[in-house]
Amino acid sequence: MIAAVPGPPPVPGPVTIIGAGGQGRETHAVLAALARLDPRWSCAGFLDDAVGPGGPGLDDDTAAALARLGVEVIGHVGELVPGTPHVIAVGDPSSRARIDRALAAAGCPPESAVVLVDPSAVVGADVVFGPGAVVQAGATATTHVRTGRHVHVNPGAVLSHDCRLGDHVSVSPGVVLAGGVDVGDRVLLGAGATVLPGRRIGDDAVVGAGAVVTDDVPAGVTVVGVPARPLGTRAPEDRPA
Ligand SMILES: CC(C)(COP(=O)(O)OP(=O)(O)OC[C@H]1O[C@@H](n2cnc3c(N)ncnc32)[C@H](O)[C@@H]1OP(=O)(O)O)[C@@H](O)C(=O)NCCC(=O)NCCS
Repeated sequence: MIAAVPGPPPVPGPVTIIGAGGQGRETHAVLAALARLDPRWSCAGFLDDAVGPGGPGLDDDTAAALARLGVEVIGHVGELVPGTPHVIAVGDPSSRARIDRALAAAGCPPESAVVLVDPSAVVGADVVFGPGAVVQAGATATTHVRTGRHVHVNPGAVLSHDCRLGDHVSVSPGVVLAGGVDVGDRVLLGAGATVLPGRRIGDDAVVGAGAVVTDDVPAGVTVVGVPARPLGTRAPEDRPA
């Protein structure tokens, strides 16, 4: 759950991006925007298990996209040297949690996950993002917002006053969380979803794209529609630990 504590601002420097897919390249865009303002920021390269032992290798589209950006995959996730500043840019919350656990087991200190906030994001003074947060262009977090580890806030999303987000939450583009929303761990909030004030979204829940959440969503439940209604539930044994 939420382990964020107010701390010093991130120290600009080279950052390794874990995951070379779309989320990874979007994260690279955040890093590039930061580097335009402060050249101490840079991308040290991508790590992706596609190039690891038994991996399928990078697909042609990904390789071409990385080449256009002038960056490359320098190894697989297990090759991250403990202490290296990094972010986990993998969109799926459960996969992100799994990688975070594996890195911790390999001795990576929690604080080596850096916070990247796009310069165009609007972030209030009383907002604390936990280690590894990536906040993309045009996102807003107003006041008294707290997040756990490795939360992704994608373009244009709004986190209103007093929202709490757990670990490994994905806030898709255009999501609106009204005031005082409480989001559990590993939740996916789909593109354009809206959550009304004070609602609670349980661990491992999924809010479908475009949904309007008017009631609390229990753990592991997927809801869709306006107003949001359950589509399905992940059995506890199918949920990530
Ligand atoms: C809710 C969601 C997780 C369901 O995925 P799924 O389990 O694979 O569901 P399916 O695509 O098989 O659809 C099942 C049913 O739900 C409906 N449905 C799916 N997503 C819906 C949504 N967002 N709103 C309304 N209905 C939806 C489908 O039309 C289908 O209805 P039917 O059975 O009457 O044909 C997914 O559709 C979704 O919205 N994901 C969010 C993705 C997103 O925003 N990603 C952002 C990345 S940046």
